Amino acid sequence: MDWILALALGYVLGSVPFGLILTKLFGAGDLRSIGSGNIGATNVLRTGRKGLAAATLLLDLLKGLAAVLIAAALWPEGAIYGAFGAFLGHCFPIWLKFRGGKGVATTAGIAFGLAWPVGLAYAVTWIGLLALVRISSVAGMCAAIIAPVIAFILGATAEGLVLALIAVIVVYLHRANIARLRAGTEPRIGSGKTDAG
Ligand code: G3P
Repeated sequence: MDWILALALGYVLGSVPFGLILTKLFGAGDLRSIGSGNIGATNVLRTGRKGLAAATLLLDLLKGLAAVLIAAALWPEGAIYGAFGAFLGHCFPIWLKFRGGKGVATTAGIAFGLAWPVGLAYAVTWIGLLALVRISSVAGMCAAIIAPVIAFILGATAEGLVLALIAVIVVYLHRANIARLRAGTEPRIGSGKTDAG
C-alpha cells in the first residue's frame, strides 16, 4: 500500500503547473496559445520573460526532487514511486485535463533525488547540449535517455527501470518536436522564433 501513497504524493506535487501559474500571475499571457503550447520553461522563455522561465525551470525541477526526497523519508521504497508519481503529475495533471508538460525539468530533479551522480550526468548532458545545439527538445530528450543508462551502469537497477520508463514517455511527449526536427523547423533557443506550435 505504501507505493500507492508515494505515487499519489508524487503526483500531487508534480501536478503543480508552475509555468502556467507564474505566467498568469505576472501577466505574461496564456502559455497554451504561445509557441509550442507547452507549459514548460522553454515555452515560458518564448514569452520573452527570462526570469519567469528560470523560475519555472527551477520550481519544476524542485518539485521532482522534493517528491523523491519526501517519499523516500516516509516509505522504505518511496523514492522510485514518488519519482514516477511526480513525473506523471507534471505530464498528465488532472487539473489541466491531463495535458501537462514534457517532463524534462521535473526529471532533472527526480534524477538528482534518486542518485546524485545520475542527476549530474543528466544536468551535464542537458546543459551541454543546450549550449552546443541550442535546441531544447534535443537536449531534454538526450538527458532523459542518458539517465537510465548511467543508473544501470552504477548498478541502481530499480532507479534505472523507472528512469527508462520516464525516458520512453519523454520521447513520446516530444513527438511534435521530433516531427519539427525532421522538417528542420524546430526553433533554437534565443532565435526569437515563437512558431514552435
Ligand atoms: O522541456 C520541454 C522542451 O524539451 C521542449 O519544449 O516548448 O519546445 O516543445 P517546447
